Amino acid sequence: MNTESQVVSRSVTQTLRGMPASDGAGVKLTRVIGQPRLPDLDPFLMLDEFGTDKAEDYIAGFPDHPHRGFETVTYMLDGRMRHKDNHGNEGVLVPGAVQWMTAGRGIVHSEMPEQTEGKMRGFQLWLNLPARDKMAEPNYQEFGPDKLPVVERAGVNVKVIAGQVDGTVGPVRQPATDPTYLDLRIDAGAAFTLPLPVGHSAFIYVYEGSAAVGTGRDAAVIEAQELAVLGDGSEVRLEGRAARTRAILVAGRPLREPVARYGPFVMNTREEIMQAFSDYQTGKF
Ligand code: FE2
Repeated sequence: MNTESQVVSRSVTQTLRGMPASDGAGVKLTRVIGQPRLPDLDPFLMLDEFGTDKAEDYIAGFPDHPHRGFETVTYMLDGRMRHKDNHGNEGVLVPGAVQWMTAGRGIVHSEMPEQTEGKMRGFQLWLNLPARDKMAEPNYQEFGPDKLPVVERAGVNVKVIAGQVDGTVGPVRQPATDPTYLDLRIDAGAAFTLPLPVGHSAFIYVYEGSAAVGTGRDAAVIEAQELAVLGDGSEVRLEGRAARTRAILVAGRPLREPVARYGPFVMNTREEIMQAFSDYQTGKF
């Protein structure tokens, strides 16, 4: 028997709930990755869930702020958000759209609600860049809901933002971390199994319903608003335990580089952080 072809189902190594946080000019959100119990999950630096139907929780938005050295991935479920940067890029993210922004050497942008009432819901993920790409030109990969392919299986609906499912490839390209980013909708009792590259960091965040993650006696029940960190293996399996379960499944190749981080700057060394401050203050972004 060829051991390399053995399937190893990933089991849950850590379960945690997000912490209430406030960011930007006072937007209320839930910080899931990037909190004391899970400061990061290489290459993932942060995961925020925002979800509210109270305008006062989001109306202040995120006025002008910088980023350098990593990527921000905004995935909208409900609501509309306008982004505008200092390189002349501007657009509105609508429900179901994703914006994969490579900050690279630096951008200054605002992310403001394009609505004064109604629901605002979605995720922002921060994904690290390797040293060689931290000072690359800023870049956007932005896809509306009609540009994100959907794969249907029995009782399962998968939107493929990055990575692939049954030969359907998501539109986002990022060779450095080779990410997988799926939005899953699973009926009660339906199961979803997917090969994932061995060695990639991976997590599942359930945002509606409940799912059993893993196989057999190893399976862990993950409730809504809980994150499951997955151990290594060659595939992942989850099963819906509520009438409608929704979850994101995210994976990526770890960079295994030193991380020097200060607010919106994520570099490899303290000196590079100092340089980022200096470049930002002297208008070099
Ligand atoms: Fe931002």
